[in-house]
Amino acid sequence: MRIDVVSIFPDYLAALDLSLVGKARRSGLLDLRVHDLRDWTADRHRTVDDTPFGGGAGMVMRPDVWGAAIDSVLGDDPEGHLVIPTPSGEVFTQRHAEAFATETHLVVACGRYEGIDARVAERYRAAGRRVSELSIGDYVLNGGEVAALVMVEAVGRLLPGVVGNPESLVEESHGAAGLLEYPVYTKPPAWEGLEIPEVLLSGHHAKIDRWRRDRALERTAARRPDMVAALDVAGLDKHDLRLLAELGWHVDGGRLRRTSDAPEGTGSPAPVAE
Ligand SMILES: C[S@@+](CC[C@H](N)C(=O)[O-])C[C@H]1O[C@@H](n2cnc3c(N)ncnc32)[C@H](O)[C@@H]1O
Repeated sequence: MRIDVVSIFPDYLAALDLSLVGKARRSGLLDLRVHDLRDWTADRHRTVDDTPFGGGAGMVMRPDVWGAAIDSVLGDDPEGHLVIPTPSGEVFTQRHAEAFATETHLVVACGRYEGIDARVAERYRAAGRRVSELSIGDYVLNGGEVAALVMVEAVGRLLPGVVGNPESLVEESHGAAGLLEYPVYTKPPAWEGLEIPEVLLSGHHAKIDRWRRDRALERTAARRPDMVAALDVAGLDKHDLRLLAELGWHVDGGRLRRTSDAPEGTGSPAPVAE
């Protein structure tokens, strides 16, 4: 897979030489190229921004400079996908990472200042190119470089061969189960008066699996009720439903709903079938 990252601070992306992504780069699993946007400027000052039309604070990145850069790195690759990090984008999730990991060429355009002139996304969409404007979360950073690091790492680790043991990707948070991962422990078995749960020493795989799933359900219910509400009820077993009922969730109209959210007078939630 090829990923081009364009930025006015290419050194920011040096972290991508480290760890598993760096290894994937060196082994050729990931063809990662970092470019300086200023290489596509045409003036002596290597200007990439200008004042916003309509007034207001800050500067906006010029579309002509970005257009030259993107044309150059995207080329006429019909598979090329332009990714523009922006806090006003759809939120980047593990689903995006999984989809991107099946692609052949991403171009990540890192904005700065007040962002990139809106015509850049518009122009490439109009030309039939794939364009995604994505946010890494509900906060504002100074530039798109950190977002690019997040996306490249999230995508890169899903490429076959990058993570040594692909099994370790299966039960992770935000995976196919739609749950957060259960708590994990290692040696020593007792530390600072804290012992690991006994079941993990039992060697009884079915019991360990059940314990882990219960903890994953509890943790998800406590920390990410939005994920519980999005669970596919068909993928839950009787034990899951009983635990979720104890945690205050019941099935209503094929979806999980918080029992406390039931409108008054609608009676108690449907009991979970034994
Ligand atoms: C200061 S921000 C621009 C914010 C923009 N004026 C707004 O309010 O939507 C500058 C650049 O940082 C990047 N950026 C900031 N926050 C981000 C986020 N949450 N997700 C992805 N990129 C972000 C984008 O590349 C953006 O163009």
